[in-house]
Formats: sequence, structure tokens, C-alpha cells
Amino acid sequence: MRDASHRTPVPSDPAAAIADLRSRPRRTVLAVPGSSVKMIGKARGLQVDEVFLDLEDAVAGPAKEEARGNVVESLLTGGFAAPTVVVRVNAWDTEYTVRDVTDVVGRAGAHVDALLLPKVRTASEVVALDLVLSQVEKAAGLPVGHIGIEPQIEDALGLTNINEIATASPRVLTLVFGPADFMASVGMRTLTVGEQPDGYAPGDAYHHVLMSILVAARAHGLQAIDGPFLKVRDEEGFRRAAARTAALGFDGKWVLHPAQVEAGNEVFSPRQAEFDKAEGILAAYAHSTSEEGGARGAVMFGDEMLDEASRKMALVVSARGRAAGM
Ligand code: GLV
Ligand code: MG
Repeated sequence: MRDASHRTPVPSDPAAAIADLRSRPRRTVLAVPGSSVKMIGKARGLQVDEVFLDLEDAVAGPAKEEARGNVVESLLTGGFAAPTVVVRVNAWDTEYTVRDVTDVVGRAGAHVDALLLPKVRTASEVVALDLVLSQVEKAAGLPVGHIGIEPQIEDALGLTNINEIATASPRVLTLVFGPADFMASVGMRTLTVGEQPDGYAPGDAYHHVLMSILVAARAHGLQAIDGPFLKVRDEEGFRRAAARTAALGFDGKWVLHPAQVEAGNEVFSPRQAEFDKAEGILAAYAHSTSEEGGARGAVMFGDEMLDEASRKMALVVSARGRAAGM
């Protein structure tokens, strides 16, 4: 098999493999239409944390078959700079999902880290994908349970069922927001994806949705990923939108264009001063640990009083910084 893949090796035990996939950085998640060999070629060189080859909305119905072929070929050829490689299959309300999984995982499953499942409305859709995946993995002679699932929340029903979706399969890695479909589903009055609708200022019209996704993700040990910002030439607009979800606590955001990649990696990495402070807090806390090994409780760090909760916040920033190579 031709394997020029740069994918990070996955542990052999399924639970360890899924834990490894869940812990990987996803500051930038690059969407690439599976129908475009040229764009897949360009995507190979981009320094994003995750790349997903899209068989869903970026590919028109008549082009689905050919796109599957492109995706399989591209996976077998490998060579993506992104350490995590994912395929977005079509939603369960189409005639394509089973064919997508059979073709892509059956022929190139050893090169796929996860499937992104769009328009998830109920937990049963994740269960169904898990079952089909297990059969296809078995038939292809692949270890069962190594491929993750990234459910995309894109409408009101999906948001309502988010906790059941998050826990529907041990394969679930992340919860991913799909703002374009979500806005359409609730009737939000804007046609510019990622921007605030006119008439709702001040405030963030997405706050409830974003916080619900984030809370569900954290409740179940998953990552929370924000969706696309479609004005690809508006880097300032992208930075503003990304900074909002990064500030909430999201792990990363989709990028659609090389111009968004550097901004995304930067916005979702801790700033150097933040990272240094987190490391300082952890050092101060470790220093204050009593001889019996127990923490002493409150500790002074400069003019701030720290406690166990401060240590946990510092651990999050430190882990993100280290994952970003700081
Ligand atoms: C992405 O799939 C979106 O709907 O925003
Ligand atoms: Mg969508």
C-alpha cells in the first residue's frame, strides 16, 4: 500500500486510540471539498491541526461518486501536514451515508482518524454510524473501534438532544457547531455565516448555542469545535469570530482558506504571557505542596490569591500551550 501519510500513529487498544484522538489539538480544522483534487493537493501542505475531506455539502449530488474516489485515492497517497485526517460523510437523511462509509473506510480506513457526521439530530444516528463502522472495519481487517466520530450539531433538534448525542458511542471525539445549517434551521435573520444578524446588537446571537455545545462537550470529556466563517477574505472578521469562541473555551474552529490558517492557530493558542503565567501558577502551587504531598490550599502568586480552581485553570492553559509547541 502506498502510504506517504504523516498521520500520527494511533495506539493499538481502541479505548487508548480514542483517548489519543480526543486529546489532539484541533485549533484549526480545514474543510476541503472531496470533489476538488486541486484543493486536496493544496490542503496537504497547510499547517492545520485537522483536515477533513468533505463528501457532504461542498459536493453536489452528481459529483458524490467521483468525490468518494478522489477521497480514497488522496487518503491512500497521504502526505497531509495535518496530524489528524477526517472525512465528512453525508447525513443519514440522504442515500449516501452507507456508501460513503463502505467505500472510504473499506478501501482506505487505515488512513482515516475519524468520520465527521453532519446534521446529527438524535443519538440513534451516532449509534447507527458506530454499528456500520464496526462492520466495515471488521470486513476490511481493521481493528474495530479505532475510528472516531465527530457529530455536527446543525439544528434545533440536535441541540436539544446534545447530551444523548455526546454519549451515544465511545467513538465520539468532539461536538462540532454547524452555524450555516443551524441559522437556517432556526430562521435567524442573516445570510452571512459567522456574522451577527442585523438588529441583535449588542449581544451575541450565538451565545446560547455555543455555550450549550461547550458545556455538553466538557460534561462528557469531548472537544468543542466552532464551524466556518464564510467571508474568507475578511481576516479581521475571522479573527473577531474566532476570538469570541476561543474566549468562551472552544478548542478550535474550521478554516476554509489558507488566509484563515495562521490566524486560527494563533487565536486558539494561548498568548505567550498567558502561558508563562499558567506555568508560573503551576510552579507556585507545586512549591507550596506540603511535605506530606497534599496541597496547602490558598497560595499567593504576585497579588493574586490562588486555590485549587486556579491550578485547574492554569493546567488547561499550560496543556493547550504545550500542545501548540510552546
Ligand atoms: C457547516 O456545515 C455549517 O452548516 O455551518
Ligand atoms: Mg452544515
